[in-house]
Amino acid sequence: MPIPVIDLSKLNGEEQAKTMAQIANGCEEWGFFQLVNHGIPVELLSKVKRVSSECFKLEREENFYKSSTTVKQLKELIDKKKGEKLENVDWEDVFLLSDDNEWPTNTPGFKETMLEYRKELKKLAEKLMEVMDENLGIPKGYIKKAFNDGEEEKAFFGTKVSHYPPCPHPEMVNGLRAHTDAGGIVLLFQDDEVEGLEILKDGKWIDVQPIPNSIVINTGDQIEVLSNGKYKSVWHRVNAKPNQTRRSIASFYNPSFDATIAPAPQLVGEGNNGEAHGEQGYPQFVFGDYMSIYTEQKFLPKEPRFQAVRAV
Ligand code: OGA
Ligand code: NI
Repeated sequence: MPIPVIDLSKLNGEEQAKTMAQIANGCEEWGFFQLVNHGIPVELLSKVKRVSSECFKLEREENFYKSSTTVKQLKELIDKKKGEKLENVDWEDVFLLSDDNEWPTNTPGFKETMLEYRKELKKLAEKLMEVMDENLGIPKGYIKKAFNDGEEEKAFFGTKVSHYPPCPHPEMVNGLRAHTDAGGIVLLFQDDEVEGLEILKDGKWIDVQPIPNSIVINTGDQIEVLSNGKYKSVWHRVNAKPNQTRRSIASFYNPSFDATIAPAPQLVGEGNNGEAHGEQGYPQFVFGDYMSIYTEQKFLPKEPRFQAVRAV
């Protein structure tokens, strides 16, 4: 069963209502869906693929095999000849691009391309948040405003460039261990061909099938809280592969650290328009407090995180 594929270009035409409903369904029933015809130029996406892969080859790969803890630990485990699995590390190379950190400098075209890409992806994130506002029946701009703590441009927008290099023993280590995402909305540009990402759907792990130039969308724990549980963050993981490098570029639109997050009042109890919603199922908290807990508990069930942040 493939995850829903939604044609975003239909959002502005005759099929608007249908497309809105598809997105609502993707958020409510899946927590993950893929967008095609999302408006990000294919030429830009091609450049993103090229510079990211080049950057990995040029600036990261050698170091990954030489000095990553994961590679060392896997070697040790193989030497011990025990059929165990590494539970505390991931077989991935990752770096983060944000507005205020250092970016790789030795790959021609990397910075210009990724600056442009991030601008496009942020716009797409903002558009999707407005669609979610409307689908949830909360005021237009509600989610963005909550994440920005009521100000302009305070939310965090980060882009994580990941590579999952070939792994000699994919049965002994995960590419990325199962987790739900901490923040708001995630826009993932995954490899055209090499699969590996899976989501937990009705108790079964299913593939997020690669579709060239599509953008995979998923929602994190903060959207779950804000929607009072209507849009649940979904467990996902990446499997390591024996022969190929998988590239994956995830952009996160998250609350600013000092933003207060709570269920939207319109989605609690009777709400504003008399519609019956559940009782408030989540606490109110400051996102930075949630992140301190998440950093310690990322690969554990999320419910205790909501409990722990209640007690802060
Ligand atoms: C993540 C994530 C998936 C991938 O970064 O949180 O789930 O395909 N990434 O790299
Ligand atoms: Ni994730």
